[in-house]
Amino acid sequence: MEKKKEKHIDTTDTDQEKTELSVLKYFEEAGFSTRIAEEYNGEAKYFRLLHYNFAKKLMLQMPGSYSTLDSGYPWLVYWVTNIIAMCKDNYEISHDNKMQLIQILKELQHEEGGFCGSPKGPAHLISSYAAVMAIVNLNMPEAYEIIDIPKMKNFLLKMKNNQLEANKEPSYTDKNGIYLITRDKENEFSSYHTAYPGTFQNHINGESDLRSTYCAMVIASVLNLINYENLTSDPLTKGVVENIKNCQTFEGGLGPEPFCEAHGGYSYCGIATLIILKKLNEIDMNSFLRWLVSRQMTKEGGFNGRTNKLVDSCYSFWQGSIFNLIHMGDKKFSYDMELLYDQLSLQAYILFACQNTHIGGLMDKPGKFPDLFHTNYATAGLSLSQKCLVDNYKVVLNPDLEHVFENVNPIYCVPEKNIENALKYYSQIKNNK
Ligand code: FPP
Ligand code: ZN
Repeated sequence: MEKKKEKHIDTTDTDQEKTELSVLKYFEEAGFSTRIAEEYNGEAKYFRLLHYNFAKKLMLQMPGSYSTLDSGYPWLVYWVTNIIAMCKDNYEISHDNKMQLIQILKELQHEEGGFCGSPKGPAHLISSYAAVMAIVNLNMPEAYEIIDIPKMKNFLLKMKNNQLEANKEPSYTDKNGIYLITRDKENEFSSYHTAYPGTFQNHINGESDLRSTYCAMVIASVLNLINYENLTSDPLTKGVVENIKNCQTFEGGLGPEPFCEAHGGYSYCGIATLIILKKLNEIDMNSFLRWLVSRQMTKEGGFNGRTNKLVDSCYSFWQGSIFNLIHMGDKKFSYDMELLYDQLSLQAYILFACQNTHIGGLMDKPGKFPDLFHTNYATAGLSLSQKCLVDNYKVVLNPDLEHVFENVNPIYCVPEKNIENALKYYSQIKNNK
């Protein structure tokens, strides 16, 4: 006798259904549908003043909800400076406030190089990345000059896992010669830790994944420390591309480390690093693209981070900007003068479903609280989603949105004009390499 098929429903299904309904409610109110996004001719507004005030209020204070971030204060400065810098017109930080932020960052620089997440903490690669990007956004020599470049270079090299130079004791590779396994006597919570050659630790005896790779390569590229002639032998860059290739999974996306699940945040870190090193086509781009285009949600218009997960506005940047990056790396990754995803539907998700119109700020999805992280990455994703391959033309839901945002650089996630100024400044400093 044939067994009757049972319908199995779990929380993945119900959460997805609830999320779809909550977003569709906003789309209905606005008269928008992802099926006919290009026919939309209603209103769509980015509440710039509200979001500016939301960020500014948090500028010189560390609210309790952010103090648990292990790489802390530099992030807060980066997010606030970036949210404000992405808005065009007169949305600015005063000179006095900028000088205060510079003083704070100065105090977070470690005496042996790199930046700490909080005063007197250990130097941390992710905090160092956030501090450098905050300095880029402060956009003035008084900020640029606080970085001790030779010490920063030493810090990056100290964090690098290079198989042959492993000098910690006892330290050995696995039977395939792939893992680097270190016994750490001082840290009883993780007495052994493993790392792949070509990766970077986040801090001494810390974890190593594509986040730290990206942070190290961004810092090195801003400070003009990359030796492009000798990428595969220079101790700072050797093995980096090889490790990123090993992070590509059977689904096509990149995971944090080899054998882990493909994820938008780590895919961003890996692809942006490949663009910095000019090596995009080293991974299997066909399978990567198949995975990437499947991350845009059919009904909600936003992206999710991995298969069978929910839409979230921060992936507007982590996933969305990858379309800008791959087009930067290879011009064939575009279609009919636009990027390879539905740019208008992403804009609708952010603008209709993720803005808090009472206290300002943007949120992950309807029903969540706004925060600086989502305000920054949803706004950056929104600006990048306006990109069109025809000069001086933008893909926008509504003509009013055309002149709201600065152009954002997808590699560094800061306004183009800020990164251009910083690259120019640091390229003039001699003998960095
Ligand atoms: C949630 O993952 C994590 C995020 C939304 C952030 C992802 C971003 C990165 C890893 C990139 C970090 C970049 C730098 C520069 C440090 P989850 O698995 O809890 O969420 P999910 O349910 O959406 O998969
Ligand atoms: Zn998120």
